[in-house]
Amino acid sequence: MIGVFDSGYGGLTILRQIRKLLPQYDYLYLGDNARAPYGSRSFDVVYRYTLEAVTALFDRGCELVILACNTASAKALRSIQQNDLARLGSERRVLGVIRPTVEVVGSLTHSRHVGILATQGTIRSRSYELELHKSNPDISVTGVACPMWVPLVENCEYDSPGADYFVQKRLDEVFRLDPDIDTLVLACTHYPLLMNKIVKYAPPSVRIIPQGDYVAASLQDYLRRHPEMDVRLSRHGNVRFLTTEDPEKFLENAAIFMPSTDIEVEKITL
Ligand code: DGL
Repeated sequence: MIGVFDSGYGGLTILRQIRKLLPQYDYLYLGDNARAPYGSRSFDVVYRYTLEAVTALFDRGCELVILACNTASAKALRSIQQNDLARLGSERRVLGVIRPTVEVVGSLTHSRHVGILATQGTIRSRSYELELHKSNPDISVTGVACPMWVPLVENCEYDSPGADYFVQKRLDEVFRLDPDIDTLVLACTHYPLLMNKIVKYAPPSVRIIPQGDYVAASLQDYLRRHPEMDVRLSRHGNVRFLTTEDPEKFLENAAIFMPSTDIEVEKITL
């Protein structure tokens, strides 16, 4: 199976796009809902939680795990790849969402001014800036943390009038810091749920980038380039869900992120 991990529901926006492009594979989604959000947690805690989640997905038969969480990708991916993968199974792989996103941003911006909206953890790690500058040193990157956005989504308040205040506040901030931004990356997998409001408060000429499509395309490309991994993946078009919280609650909320999916959820402890 392909494992897809997020701290909560946000990774479902990535899973949805991946399944659209690659419906033939089997997927196992894990939301660490009991411990979400991860956004303001320290490096050590995010690393430990993410490692526990990856281990749980490997133990349940995943050969490849996508960290569908920017915070986990920024704070835990490299450490897991370098310190833990050999022990967990050297043929297994863990991939993140930052590189696939960064790879396309360079070709999308004309002004060469890019805005990054993300959790505090992702912004403080400066992962986007560092990755982007490896291939595009000329791009000016402005990151703004949006600490209230994940709780709004996790609590299903993303469509409420109250959400407008927090969305407008952060968009005003990023465009005040750099009015030349023409490309705005939603560098948190929860944020696509706030898209209607983000579009409302961003200048109309600005291109807003949710990550799902790029992560899905990058996974497709990865599997093409790695047939040795591709042959190990099962193909029945199934998807199952794991949560560290109450399955009923997961079921209710997941339906908002993935309408029309018949969902089977199991509670696990990490
Ligand atoms: N969806 C996650 C991300 O992309 C995590 C948010 C959180 O748990 O704070 O960063």
